Amino acid sequence: GAAGDEYKKPQVVLVDGLLVMPGTLRHWEKIKSFQARPDDIFIASYPKSGLMWTTQVMNMIKLHGDVEAYKVDKTLIPFLEFCRPDEEPAVEKINNLPSPRVINIHAPISHISKSILENKCKVICILRNPKDVAVSFYHFHTFNNMLPNPGTWSEFLQNFMIGKVGFNSWFDHVKGWWSLREQPNIFFLFYEEMKKDLGYEAGRLASFLGHDLSPEAIKNLVKQLSFNAMKANMDEKFSNLSSPAGFTFKQFLRKGQVGDWKNHFTVAQNEVMDQLITDQLQGTSLDFCYEL
Ligand code: A3P
Repeated sequence: GAAGDEYKKPQVVLVDGLLVMPGTLRHWEKIKSFQARPDDIFIASYPKSGLMWTTQVMNMIKLHGDVEAYKVDKTLIPFLEFCRPDEEPAVEKINNLPSPRVINIHAPISHISKSILENKCKVICILRNPKDVAVSFYHFHTFNNMLPNPGTWSEFLQNFMIGKVGFNSWFDHVKGWWSLREQPNIFFLFYEEMKKDLGYEAGRLASFLGHDLSPEAIKNLVKQLSFNAMKANMDEKFSNLSSPAGFTFKQFLRKGQVGDWKNHFTVAQNEVMDQLITDQLQGTSLDFCYEL
């Protein structure tokens, strides 16, 4: 039936000018009329920018770096626009969550509920360089049954560059959030900075959230949330979940590196991408790191 087909590489569909998955389209009115509460905290990211990693950092901060508590903690931070074909939409559950809520969002600022900014909610924006995002997104399409078939890498990259992928253009997404950077309630995390010094970035995030992490807590957090530790532990930690999308955390935690794009881009593709980045990001003061 129709719901079952969504596990088999559905096409993205356009709603209000935004490319989304069929489940999101089906519940778009509810997602659109979502109302933020002033004490909500949002984690905003373009797909594949490090959302899962950041949600684990958030959980570890909430638990003050207590490793034993973290190991048994099954908190999953809900994703506003998400809907499994056979379930009620995430927005329904989110509407019924007690405060304070933490909510993931993927939509660009042009498509988020006005109440988020009007209520001056805290927003944590995660940014990652577009070359690694493109590569990560391409691979995600190959093993996630709920995403379309990506075609070849070259075809996918072309679509990525013109924003013909889920949640539209990476450029519009990051430029939108970055334009709000002077607002004290909007906080930025860069994937590459997290790779360089996770403890430091987690400390900054904790301060933004009004928490104080002890050096011991930071040490624990860094150990639990390294790429290898997460790759080894996440499937067991969340063994209670059934994945509708047909992949494991071991697959999801694919490479976790800065610079894997070098293994995918041809010299010509890289030149086109560099030019696009220059054109799109000029005058924004946004600057990304492409290798460590
Ligand atoms: P790769 O595909 O490049 O490996 P999101 O959660 O936003 O979908 O982002 C997924 C990307 O974050 C994947 O990138 C994944 O491996 C990476 N990631 C997840 N946890 C990580 C960690 N602990 N350290 C580094 N990268 C991590």
